[in-house]
Amino acid sequence: MTPRSQSLVPVRPPGFAYREIRHGIFPRRGEHLLHSDDLPLPRLARKYGTPLYVYSATTIHQRFEAFDAAFRDIPHTICYSVKANSNLSILRMLARKGCGFDVVSGGELERVLMADRRTARRVVFSGVGKTREELSAALKARILLFNVESESELWALAECAGKLRTTAPVAFRVNPDVAAQTHPYISTGLRKHKFGVPITAARTLYARASGVRYLRVRGVSVHIGSQITDAAPFGEAMTRVADLVEELRDDGHPIDYIDAGGGLGIFYEKPDSADFPTLAADYARSLSAPLQDLNVRLLLEPGRSIIAPAGVLLTSVVYKKANDGKRFLVVDAAMNDLIRPALYGAYHEIVPVTRRADEQAEMETVDVVGPVCETGDFFARDRKLPFVEEGDLLAILDAGAYGMVLASNYNTRPRPAEVLVDGDSLKVIRRRERLSDLLRTEV
Ligand code: LLP
Repeated sequence: MTPRSQSLVPVRPPGFAYREIRHGIFPRRGEHLLHSDDLPLPRLARKYGTPLYVYSATTIHQRFEAFDAAFRDIPHTICYSVKANSNLSILRMLARKGCGFDVVSGGELERVLMADRRTARRVVFSGVGKTREELSAALKARILLFNVESESELWALAECAGKLRTTAPVAFRVNPDVAAQTHPYISTGLRKHKFGVPITAARTLYARASGVRYLRVRGVSVHIGSQITDAAPFGEAMTRVADLVEELRDDGHPIDYIDAGGGLGIFYEKPDSADFPTLAADYARSLSAPLQDLNVRLLLEPGRSIIAPAGVLLTSVVYKKANDGKRFLVVDAAMNDLIRPALYGAYHEIVPVTRRADEQAEMETVDVVGPVCETGDFFARDRKLPFVEEGDLLAILDAGAYGMVLASNYNTRPRPAEVLVDGDSLKVIRRRERLSDLLRTEV
């Protein structure tokens, strides 16, 4: 018989891997337990309950470093996209590594300033609907760059900067009209999308901006979408941006920065840690090839590729049921905790936390569903999983990005706690919400 440990797939090393328990009565000897760094997940579940978001600090460090290394040949600043996971402890960890931030709201800016006020000079601000309050807050914080997405926003920014007697550093986010293979909800670089200004209108807009006393043209930005695993469209967009930069310089605008946005995807359907440096290198080559000799600093806004594989959502099987032969695992996490499957039909690998080495792997085809009253409340459909029992733990993998940040209180469900594991030490980085937290704001 093949040793079970070889069939314990898939895992996301180094952050999440099975380890055999060699001593002890509970868990039983011979069992393999999924660990986050050096801590067994069942221990975390017992202590903090489920559903629980668990993050691996080792993975965050490694991802950030691999991403950074891929761009070593070109002057660059990584501005981690806060929207992917905005927990203060994670932001603080990244700030300590010299990371900057991409924010899209006054709230995200506030988080970054709370994590480390000194990082303001490495903050870029994107978004189609920045309010005057948000623009003013960012001006006061003296951020690196405003990625302006319309002419109206430009005038609002000039007005705010004038009132504060300061100068706003400006880039236009241009829409390059490049198609990217991804879910339509997160594709952003086509003419029909709400984002940015048409690249064809850019020269006129830069000319207008440069005539305004309180504005200072500094760069060009672009973001074509998210969860893109093919490097080609990034290169295509960057070629168009590079051409534009040359034209803008000919027009007399100083362009010091090109902000390439985010969007590098991960392989949700197969463990990809080993491939990440290769993928990141491809991505880096596609972005930097068109920029040869342009002498600009490249700004990068990765979110998912840094943080997604660093997190799992730990959940318990509450009930097993079968309706006319269709089998369900009803778990205690739901679409309100992790909405990606419900919203995008997204695939997340699901693995049992405990695997028994001495048993033949018995598989079962199930739907993994939550308790919320919607048919869309599922994590997997017709998924072949190793047989589990009621009370067993499952880990939903690659949940570090767009997981907790998109959680809601639908069905009056308090949101999960979040813990960060670093080697064998652990920190609760958000306590579990209580019902009283939910009711407090209602009069
Ligand atoms: N920069 C801008 C301007 C963005 O709009 C985004 C993502 C990023 C950077 C970061 O992209 P990333 O590197 O994470 O792909 N909720 C969806 C993803 C929404 C992405 C929105 N914008 C999901 O769960 O797939």
